[in-house]
Amino acid sequence: MYNPYSLEGKTILITGAASGIGKATSIESSKLGAKIVAVDLNGEGLEKLMPQLEGDGHLQFTGNLCDEEFLKNLGEESPALDGVFLCAGVSDTTPVKFITEEKLKRVFDVNLTAPILMLKQLLVKKKINKGGSLVWMSSYGAEKVEPGLGIYAASKSAVNGIMRAYAKELVSRKIRSNSIMPMMIRTELLSTLNSISDKDLEKQEAMYPLGFGSPLDVAYAAIYLFSDASRWITGTQIRMDGGSNL
Ligand SMILES: NC(=O)c1ccc[n+]([C@@H]2O[C@H](COP(=O)([O-])OP(=O)(O)OC[C@H]3O[C@@H](n4cnc5c(N)ncnc54)[C@H](O)[C@@H]3O)[C@@H](O)[C@H]2O)c1
Repeated sequence: MYNPYSLEGKTILITGAASGIGKATSIESSKLGAKIVAVDLNGEGLEKLMPQLEGDGHLQFTGNLCDEEFLKNLGEESPALDGVFLCAGVSDTTPVKFITEEKLKRVFDVNLTAPILMLKQLLVKKKINKGGSLVWMSSYGAEKVEPGLGIYAASKSAVNGIMRAYAKELVSRKIRSNSIMPMMIRTELLSTLNSISDKDLEKQEAMYPLGFGSPLDVAYAAIYLFSDASRWITGTQIRMDGGSNL
């Protein structure tokens, strides 16, 4: 059947695969024919994910992406990849005058340092195939900063910066690098934004003509970037905002 977004024959590594956007992307990508290499700190979540993947040959790696040994093993043991979704991330709500070095480090370690060091292992061990696609998880919050979300915004802006460096340096091998920048998506991550009450969330959702996004909305954008339909797109940021910035 004609399908320019098919992922048949592709192997895709997805971090943060146990929950939210990473989980939805893993399941949908498997339905389109991809073999998934699912990576997360949450082993229980990965165990629950595996039976939901369509087809066979999927792999799971449980570990902390901030742990150098784990990244080295992942680099050794990962199969050759056609796509990588750098989706694992954490949020933080700290007004600027309460920022500490510890909080900065926690967020930057997961959102920025871990994906860079993981890709380094995969590239050094030649695990990313020619024509592969790197999909970085940024956030609309990188540009439209809400009070208290400064550390998160800074980490996600940095993601966009490094994403372009990969696009430039890897284009000769036809490896593409792009980022996705969603605004509010209903996932577990929202519950960690402890400064936002249910009432505030309702008020915020009213400002989205298309409502808050769902993990599936982002999964489909990632799938487009993994597929050969996007073969001419690199160094780009895809903004997704449910019409809230019109
Ligand atoms: N939910 C939103 O509104 C929204 C909006 C814009 C961007 N994002 C970004 O999307 C990504 C996914 O967010 P989500 O909403 O699905 O969150 P989520 O909390 O549902 O999932 C995040 C996953 O990352 C994993 N993870 C966190 N730290 C890890 C580590 N050190 N090692 C391995 N795994 C780790 C968690 O275990 C979890 O399974 C994040 O990068 C987030 O910043 C989310």
